[in-house]
Amino acid sequence: MIEYREQENLFLLHGRSTTYAVKIFRNTYLAHLYWGPKIDSTGILHHFQPMAIPYSVDAGREEPLFSLNSLKREYPDYGTSDIRHPAFTARNSTGDRITDFACKDYRIYGGKPELPGLPSLRSHGDDDAETLEIRMRDERTGLECTLYYTVYDQFDVIIRSSFFQNTAEDPIYLERAYSASVDFDDADFDALYLHGAWAREAWVNRTPLQPGVFSFGSKTGATGHQQNPFIALARNTTSESAGEVWGMNLVYSGNFTVNTEVDQFSRTRATIGINDCNFSWKLEHGQVFYTPEAVLAYSGSGLNGLSQEFHGLYMQRLVPEGFARKERPVLINTWEAAYFDVSHSRVVSIAQEAAKLGIELVVLDDGWFKGRNDDTSSLGDWKTDRDKFPDGLGAVSGEVQDIGLDFGIWIEPEMISENSDLYREHPDWCIKVPGRTPSTGRNQLVLDFSRQEIRDYIIKVISDVLKEAHVKYVKWDMNRQMTDLYASAFSPDRQGEAAHRYILGVYEVMDSLTSSFPEVLFEGCAGGGGRFDPGILAYMPQIWTSDDTDAVERVCIQYGTSMAYPVAAMGSHVSAVPNHQVGRVTPLTTRGRVAMSGVFGYELDPKSLSEDEKQEIGEQIAFYKEHRKTFQFGRFYRLKSPFPDRHSGAWMHISQDRKTVIVSYFQNFAVPMAGFSKLKLKGIDEDAVYTDPEGKLFHGSVLVNAGLPIGYLHGDYQSYTVVLQKKDE
Ligand code: DGJ
Repeated sequence: MIEYREQENLFLLHGRSTTYAVKIFRNTYLAHLYWGPKIDSTGILHHFQPMAIPYSVDAGREEPLFSLNSLKREYPDYGTSDIRHPAFTARNSTGDRITDFACKDYRIYGGKPELPGLPSLRSHGDDDAETLEIRMRDERTGLECTLYYTVYDQFDVIIRSSFFQNTAEDPIYLERAYSASVDFDDADFDALYLHGAWAREAWVNRTPLQPGVFSFGSKTGATGHQQNPFIALARNTTSESAGEVWGMNLVYSGNFTVNTEVDQFSRTRATIGINDCNFSWKLEHGQVFYTPEAVLAYSGSGLNGLSQEFHGLYMQRLVPEGFARKERPVLINTWEAAYFDVSHSRVVSIAQEAAKLGIELVVLDDGWFKGRNDDTSSLGDWKTDRDKFPDGLGAVSGEVQDIGLDFGIWIEPEMISENSDLYREHPDWCIKVPGRTPSTGRNQLVLDFSRQEIRDYIIKVISDVLKEAHVKYVKWDMNRQMTDLYASAFSPDRQGEAAHRYILGVYEVMDSLTSSFPEVLFEGCAGGGGRFDPGILAYMPQIWTSDDTDAVERVCIQYGTSMAYPVAAMGSHVSAVPNHQVGRVTPLTTRGRVAMSGVFGYELDPKSLSEDEKQEIGEQIAFYKEHRKTFQFGRFYRLKSPFPDRHSGAWMHISQDRKTVIVSYFQNFAVPMAGFSKLKLKGIDEDAVYTDPEGKLFHGSVLVNAGLPIGYLHGDYQSYTVVLQKKDE
């Protein structure tokens, strides 16, 4: 609900149990007042103290004087009396970058706007969300900026974005346009963020803020393996289960930046948005620019509370509606089983074996299209390789369906190989700077998705494949970092737009294909979790979390990823040992338990399994199917962090009816004399009694306060999973 107090020019944006307060000061300056647990506004204005500051510049010539440096601000501009990190900068026709925005008007309405060309959160009609728009204007340059704020009755989040318009005759160049900026009263925070690499995504880092700027982001053209567009500012004492934490996550899949700045008064400014490195956007008279949405979430109940806020919101208001509650199939993927050596008979034989195990869908990964025998060729030639599939994809898909499984396929539509018919026909379709030879990554170049004819071509050829193969599932991959950026259809003064135009093109193609095939389950992928972000989730309800399928590595990767992203978004497979990425040999039981904690599948050759392994896999799948709803849509709590030593980790899932509790503990590495492990459970009913499969009874209060004993596990890579059932009262 949004309240406006006219006399005070004060906006109170209430979520389920939070309030975010904003004030227009002197009919001009937009100030931030408060973000935290729900409050009544009486007295909040006593906290508002604009003032003159020694050795600071005044905001204007009016009385009484004050400096913008003294204000907590909502969307700070550059070049007047605020010397902190600005949320945007714009170069105007006189060549300066000074703007001085004044609030002009506002609008409050039910529901939530969609952003043209960008992924955005939904509202269910006009009743569950309310939006505030505040329009600001810089008189001298004619640049206007409208801020959007949406709050939901059922969530403790604020969705922010902004919209620029040039009302002047001369062009204006946006050189920075973040999605959100929040000023906090103090700097007693740890920055918690996800850092990694290919095959080692989303490790949790936590570091106290220091005076000055702390910044991370991506310049790879995608959100990237190294960083994720997520930050949590946690009180130094905040734990998984207690304490205050404020989170920001960007609904965007391209270059991004996150910054915190601790200023001279030990206050913190946190910003998130498109990376301004190599970014500029030309606005001709009347033209507009929309920033992506930022999701701001608050929790007073620790990191688990924050994550659950993101999880609930993304499942209910972000992922395609048809998949929000649709159970995801147990799949088998051909990649680690066959790599490029796929064929009709191989896929059929995998399907036959998989069917006996209870697997529900076969994914034909890379290698199925014309001449693709390794990674040096064929991207762009989205036609079936007739040597491997003489009767076409429709035939193999039909046979798989006859066996009783659904059929899925891998594509990498944004790429082009130099050794491909498409490249020979259209050498100018790849991204490259005129006069320079573009660098390759995995031997491939990137298609210039800023061009309409290229997007249209890809939509057409991929649609043909999906129709021919009667697919129920698509894995959409993207396997290189972007370099040599250039948008060949645009003028030199628009080249700062190339990275964002590329990602807008990707969104258009994703939107078109996912809307044309609404029944098809799409899984995002970028060499694993190289583009794991809310932007992708708006089109594809799940993402391949990492190319690393080793159980030990996955405990860390999935633990970190769950900070912002729901379990049902995390593709997670059991693979063969020795593991192909790290060479580790872990027990099948542990591999199964880790993979089941996400969207479950296999990535191995079922023909190479022993009878015992087949038996165990059959049991794993039966167990997963029995508890699939709990794993995919239950409430998820992290219990024990594997960071920083990676020795062990634990988490739990609670079913939606709250009757089933599944607790999983992973002992990555054995520690001598480690003491006696127990896990204090979270979120269960403390007045109820729970029973384990052996009939042992535990009172909820015992499980929460004394904990669940884990018992002794001998050796590395051991694990323990138990299902507790709530007894009827
Ligand atoms: C990278 C993906 O992450 C893998 O799972 C696999 O699909 C390969 N690409 C195929 O080239």
